[in-house]
Amino acid sequence: MKDIIIEKNPKKAKAKFDDLFLAREQIIKSASKDAKLHDSIKNLTNTLHPKNIEVEVTKIVEETKNVKSFYLKRKEGETLPNFEAGSYITLEIKINDRIYKRPYSISSNPKNTQEYRITIKKVPDGLVSTHVYDNCKVGDVFTISGPLGNFHYNKIRDEKDVIFLCGGTGITPILPMIYELLENQKVNSILLYYGNQKKEDILWETNLEELQTKYSNFKVKFLLTEEEIENYIYGNITEEILKKENLNGKSFFVCGPLEMYKSLNEIFKKLDIPNKYIRHEIYKEELENLLRIEHKLTIKKENQTYTISCYENETLLTSMENNHINPKAHCTVGECGFCRSKLLSGEIKTEISSLRKKDIEMKYIHPCVTYPLSDVSIELP
Ligand code: FES
Repeated sequence: MKDIIIEKNPKKAKAKFDDLFLAREQIIKSASKDAKLHDSIKNLTNTLHPKNIEVEVTKIVEETKNVKSFYLKRKEGETLPNFEAGSYITLEIKINDRIYKRPYSISSNPKNTQEYRITIKKVPDGLVSTHVYDNCKVGDVFTISGPLGNFHYNKIRDEKDVIFLCGGTGITPILPMIYELLENQKVNSILLYYGNQKKEDILWETNLEELQTKYSNFKVKFLLTEEEIENYIYGNITEEILKKENLNGKSFFVCGPLEMYKSLNEIFKKLDIPNKYIRHEIYKEELENLLRIEHKLTIKKENQTYTISCYENETLLTSMENNHINPKAHCTVGECGFCRSKLLSGEIKTEISSLRKKDIEMKYIHPCVTYPLSDVSIELP
């Protein structure tokens, strides 16, 4: 066996680590694209985690104004892959001859693998959500991938008493978690604070109330910001509201609009709730003051080079999608790492929180959350 030599000089240790990192990148790059897996393992892997699945829309339900649920079944009639409550799938959709990929949380009960339900809100700037909301019909066929994501309850990491805080369609990944935790008796108690503008905007109010009647350890409190109705809390979730609860030893799961994350982060700080008790669904920071200034984006992909236009107010991923170049992508918010690419030159603005320190040093970026500030050149994996 080889002796393990520990490099004590920090500079030399870093240099060695950099060499290792580069060597690893070279090995990955030169590896055969056809992994040599035993056939039975390959078949099992493909069945449990197929890369892409064709699904058919079997039912559409108008849940509230501007929110619809789409029920998806596998085209060949087989079951869909199991998913952990809180996961999302990536929907691939063709709009004007261009392919876009967008993540949507699965809002159905994870014990049902015959079908997935995704719930989509039509939003003014949402190209894909608006297209699906307006045009999708029963019988349409889509390609999906996943399920993926890290917004899950983990019985080793998380506490036995859970508080869910969500707003609007932020309930979509949370409802499956509530089903799973209650039905499998994984926790002692669940408290859900669910905020909306009006009563008519609340998703699955009756289902949530039925769950509350059925399970004594589940409580739901509805908040409304634009209507004062008896038994509904008026306004947003505040420090005062949370202070009324016993917050010690509880895990918090948050999902909702960007302003909600910002305000809850402040509240958690004031209440001295350590980060280890807080889980967030992934979200994209809105980068402000970006203008529609045009630059050139040069993309190296395998042995090809493409040059397209890109804009300061558009992510590199969107520019590529708009120009029929479709790199690997799932989450589109900088979390999954599938779009990770090397920045060869140019100035960019990006959310780097999801990148590892080494990636930042080695100039790797996630095009899904990167905006160009000059002509930019990147290499796709
Ligand atoms: S698509 Fe997930 S990190 Fe970019």
